[in-house]
Amino acid sequence: MPSPIPPMSVRPKNRPAPVAWLLAWALAAACLLITRSAGASSLPHGDEAAPAAEDGYRLWLRYVPVEEPWRSRYRASATGLIGAAAMEASPTLRAARAELVRGLSGLLGEAPRAADAVTRDGAILFGTPRSSAVVKSLSLDLGAVGAEGYLIRTTTIHGHRATVIAANTDIGVLYGAFRFLRLLQTREPIGHLDIAASPKIRRRVLDHWDNLNGTVERGYAGDSLWKWETLPEHLSQRYIDYARACASIGINGAVLNNVNATPFILTPLYLGKVAALAGVLRPYGIRVYLSVPFSAPVTLGKLKSADPLDPRVQAWWTAKAAEIYRDIPDFGGFLMKANSEGQPGPEDYHRTQAQGANLLAQALAPHHGIVMWRAFVYTTGSHSEDRAKQAYDTFKPLDGKFAGNVLVQVKNGPIDFQPREPFHPLFGAMPRTNLMLELQVTKEYLGQRTSIVYLGPLFAEGLRDDTWVKGAGSTVARVTDGSLYGERLTAIAGVANIGSDRNWCGSIFNQANWYAFGRLAWDPDLSARQIAGEWVRMTFTNDRRFVVPVVKMMMGSREAVVDYMTPLGLASQMAGTHFGPGPWMAPAKGIPADWTSTYYSRADAGGIGFDRTATGSNAVAQYAPHLATQYGNAATCPESLLLWFHHLSWDYRLRSGRTLWDSMVLHYDQGVASVRQARKTWSSLSPYVDRERYRLTADFLAIQEKDAEWWRNASIAYFQSISHRPLPAGAAPPPDTLAHYEAFCIPYVEGSPGTRPACPPADVAVPR
Ligand code: GCU
Repeated sequence: MPSPIPPMSVRPKNRPAPVAWLLAWALAAACLLITRSAGASSLPHGDEAAPAAEDGYRLWLRYVPVEEPWRSRYRASATGLIGAAAMEASPTLRAARAELVRGLSGLLGEAPRAADAVTRDGAILFGTPRSSAVVKSLSLDLGAVGAEGYLIRTTTIHGHRATVIAANTDIGVLYGAFRFLRLLQTREPIGHLDIAASPKIRRRVLDHWDNLNGTVERGYAGDSLWKWETLPEHLSQRYIDYARACASIGINGAVLNNVNATPFILTPLYLGKVAALAGVLRPYGIRVYLSVPFSAPVTLGKLKSADPLDPRVQAWWTAKAAEIYRDIPDFGGFLMKANSEGQPGPEDYHRTQAQGANLLAQALAPHHGIVMWRAFVYTTGSHSEDRAKQAYDTFKPLDGKFAGNVLVQVKNGPIDFQPREPFHPLFGAMPRTNLMLELQVTKEYLGQRTSIVYLGPLFAEGLRDDTWVKGAGSTVARVTDGSLYGERLTAIAGVANIGSDRNWCGSIFNQANWYAFGRLAWDPDLSARQIAGEWVRMTFTNDRRFVVPVVKMMMGSREAVVDYMTPLGLASQMAGTHFGPGPWMAPAKGIPADWTSTYYSRADAGGIGFDRTATGSNAVAQYAPHLATQYGNAATCPESLLLWFHHLSWDYRLRSGRTLWDSMVLHYDQGVASVRQARKTWSSLSPYVDRERYRLTADFLAIQEKDAEWWRNASIAYFQSISHRPLPAGAAPPPDTLAHYEAFCIPYVEGSPGTRPACPPADVAVPR
């Protein structure tokens, strides 16, 4: 990082400094002041004064110097640090101290003084009543914050003003330390604090779809973060920094490997590596979990079957669980994808999903482990009339049959992480089963690495959707946090977007999605806008001239993708790589219908959309009666979900008075316009961002604009070939022919499973 002050040579003592040197020094000091206060009051001009280059490695934990007047105010409340100084402090409390020292040093320009008693105003104390006599003496009301929560309070000790960060457990203290630093990072006053916080969901887990060969399924940020080949000996600093980032937002679990699991993960060779990672993550409150294949007793254990009712199979899993817990006493448990997309499962033995889940649950129960059993179960072709119904039809009859340490893990929508889906009808439909929500942080269907799509609104929308199963207010969030049915074992999972890229997530703005997932997992009631604001302030600057337009840009970014990819409730219109448009993809030899676009759009001369009403697949009946009625009638169905539930004529009139066809075209145009606007917004903000992060984002926005146009043009070309309707006034015809769009294919897309190209070689020009 270039220093604004030229290096000073060492001068002999007592020799008067030459005037020129003094002048240079004064000038440099003034420069430093200007640079430091730039975020607050003055706009840096030109490249020389722009913030120094950053590669994004530090995420939202940058701890760059605070400008005046905040710095003086904060310094007055950070005169000393009391707690966990002794070597015998737990690793978690030592991590809390290290973070406070690192954060305060960076933010305030000097390390807080270590102290062991409050002798002046402005001390920061941290600890639990058990680890700190001073915290104990304060008799704080810690009862309400539970096992992971914390209090941050301004108090008076021996007549001196102090801030206490206290919790019942060490991990609560670490969470409190991060929260305290966030207050400074986002320029909140810290003179009169009275904060009590605790997570609403108990298990807040990142699911890494990382393969043991180093690739990441649907990963758009390089290779796997886990370097299996150098584990367990080499514990990269990245593992610690990953853990810090997770802990800063309250994530407390990591499934280390892909749901499409290989049995090797359960071998002693790999379990040793898993144990080493567990050791690094443990001080930060993160437990490790593993995805396991249902057939492991056969492939690894050499048994003849993996039948869950076979005592030998049960004994195999029991022994395997015991083996894992010997080295990883706090192991979280197993994640299972069974009977889905070719994975083995209990149905192979004519057993139910519950029987399969309970097999693992029984093996883990003595060790307090849990099973996260995925409801993403579908067998292509078996539910051909409507795949959206299959998970509900499979799991709903099993309500009450799952062991107490099983959670059924349900994707937010009934199909597969689309830009927009209605909530999954299993939410609220299994009152006697622990249900957890699975979100996707990696943007498999939302432009992958390069598109700027802030997922806060998508996550928040899914959490706030009202299932109506117990009347108004029975939201997905309340099913997930256990408050609707009084469950105690609660969990939420996010499919991670983290890889070996220096900036972790493939782009700077993708980091916001990791951040938003963690914040909403802690508190599903937070607003996506508030989270975006926090993230922007910590990741870039607190300057409102930057924060306001960037938050606006982020908040509109998800709807933009919906508009240019799948407007008005369309879904699954992507090419086979899940990147770029493929609305013409139709069933063919070797391609099952429910993997194609035409299966979902049902576009024909008469209209477009999937009829899921009583006259169609009747998927509406899987929702509570209130919603079944609302969704089942095109006039009352939210327009954002119209084509999900209805097949309508191209000339159907929307509430605006426009025809469905015209509205579709306008949505595509609106999506492209939003991306263009985002590009414009970003290009006006270069003075506030360092060159490196500015450029990367600007370049990615340019790519996104091309992608949005490609989506818009290809989709209009295709659907117009079916609707035979003219474009509405003002809408430009696609510049290429449909044949041209259909012929274009990107052979290799990051994160796609397998190594075969997505299409045969053909000399096709880039579409416009
Ligand atoms: C999607 C995704 C797969 C993934 C699957 C799952 O279908 O494309 O790569 O394995 O979801 O969630 O299991």
